[in-house]
Amino acid sequence: MDTKVMDDVIMRFKPAVHRFWKRPAPIITRAEGVYLWDQDGKRYLDGSAGSSVVVNIGHGVQSVIDAMYEQARKVCFAAPHVFSNEPMLELGQLVASHAPGTMRYNCRSWFGCTGTDAVDSAVRLARLYYVHTGKPSKYAVIGRWRGFHGNNIAVAGIHGHTLRRRYYYPMYVNFPKIPPAYCYRCPFEKTYPDCNLKCARQLETEIRQQGQENIAAFIAEPVVGAALGAVPAPPGYFEVIRDICDRYDVKLIVDEVMTGWGRIGYWFGIEAWGVTPDIIATAKGMTSGYTPLSATIASEEMWQVVEDTGHPFLAGHTLNENPVSCAVAVEVIRYVEKHNLVERSREMGEYLLSRLKELLEFDIVGDVRGKGMMCGLEFVKDKKTKEPFDPGLKVAARFQAEALERGLVTFQCTGCVDGVMGDMLLITPPLVITREQIDEMIEIMRETMKVVQSQVLH
Ligand SMILES: Cc1ncc(COP(=O)(O)O)c(C=O)c1O
Repeated sequence: MDTKVMDDVIMRFKPAVHRFWKRPAPIITRAEGVYLWDQDGKRYLDGSAGSSVVVNIGHGVQSVIDAMYEQARKVCFAAPHVFSNEPMLELGQLVASHAPGTMRYNCRSWFGCTGTDAVDSAVRLARLYYVHTGKPSKYAVIGRWRGFHGNNIAVAGIHGHTLRRRYYYPMYVNFPKIPPAYCYRCPFEKTYPDCNLKCARQLETEIRQQGQENIAAFIAEPVVGAALGAVPAPPGYFEVIRDICDRYDVKLIVDEVMTGWGRIGYWFGIEAWGVTPDIIATAKGMTSGYTPLSATIASEEMWQVVEDTGHPFLAGHTLNENPVSCAVAVEVIRYVEKHNLVERSREMGEYLLSRLKELLEFDIVGDVRGKGMMCGLEFVKDKKTKEPFDPGLKVAARFQAEALERGLVTFQCTGCVDGVMGDMLLITPPLVITREQIDEMIEIMRETMKVVQSQVLH
């Protein structure tokens, strides 16, 4: 590109703030199935389902676009402080019909806009529940190091994603954390199953240390996404957590922002452990990214306590329960049902994981993990010692950029070792991806891996 053209491009980009500063991004003009096309006609395979686990049903599904249009023609916004709307009511029923365990047909959903506000509403609900059931000292929420729950100041105090919380430290309540369930680098230097799930049992120690009269909730992702790179909790983990929560009267909040809606082979990820949580925060795949929407789903009993106060649930935002987004979510969920995408995620996920494991032949790939269609890999400098790369080398970011050059979208993340060190990649294509398309993706990853390995290992 000559300098004048480049200057024009940069001037056009400047007024909108991007996630990156230095390069103009490809402008996407069309998307269909698992592919996206930019303004120059270059095709990209979507290996991260939009941006980190969103577009579960694939891009450009006509029935979703129709549902959006039909609803938009009727009404786009109905002030939530005085009105209800049809799609919201239908969505409430649909969510209840897929809720896990004893929550099925025994829960209510609060519809918001983002995963972050779903988490925020979840912790508000836990707090309100105890305020109104005679235990007002219960307020704290225990989280996990290297877990992520969203991007507002309050939630930064609950999650354990160092990069996204450290600069805001003086601005939030810094809630207690326990170590992650991360077998590849066990925080207790033990091996599953001989460890007797010490990482889960640590919750009991933390509650006792903090005083159970102070603890309202524990929050965790069934499979940790951006903070660990698709690490599922080991079998038995959430059963132990549930038991501890019950014994100490602590609410279990599961963050299903990434894992919900079929992503790991279940409607909700927590079902893989056979556990019913008290509250679920979910978003992303619920509308497959066609429009913004989130949900805070909780047991009937919890909402009843708030209802009995006679006051509204003071949370959420102006655009909550948006009729167009609710209509989209209804159609997306129907599409998942109709095309058996939950089962497909489980089956195709096995194929994806087995193909990704072939990449372990590269010296810089230390671990490949995942559940269903939520997979990831971890880069290491030394496979034997698991020594991570110097963060300055930006190995994961390099891979993401090189893969994008070759027409594959991946999602890079960092900090799995200790919040600072450690490079990972999330591989989470739309659930509709075919075997052939997975093969195409692995081919690009293989090519990219060769290039990156030659750059960072000398
Ligand atoms: C597990 C998890 N929880 C919460 C969030 C926050 O969701 P949102 O970006 O929609 O606010 C994210 C976002 O990536 C996430 O991965």
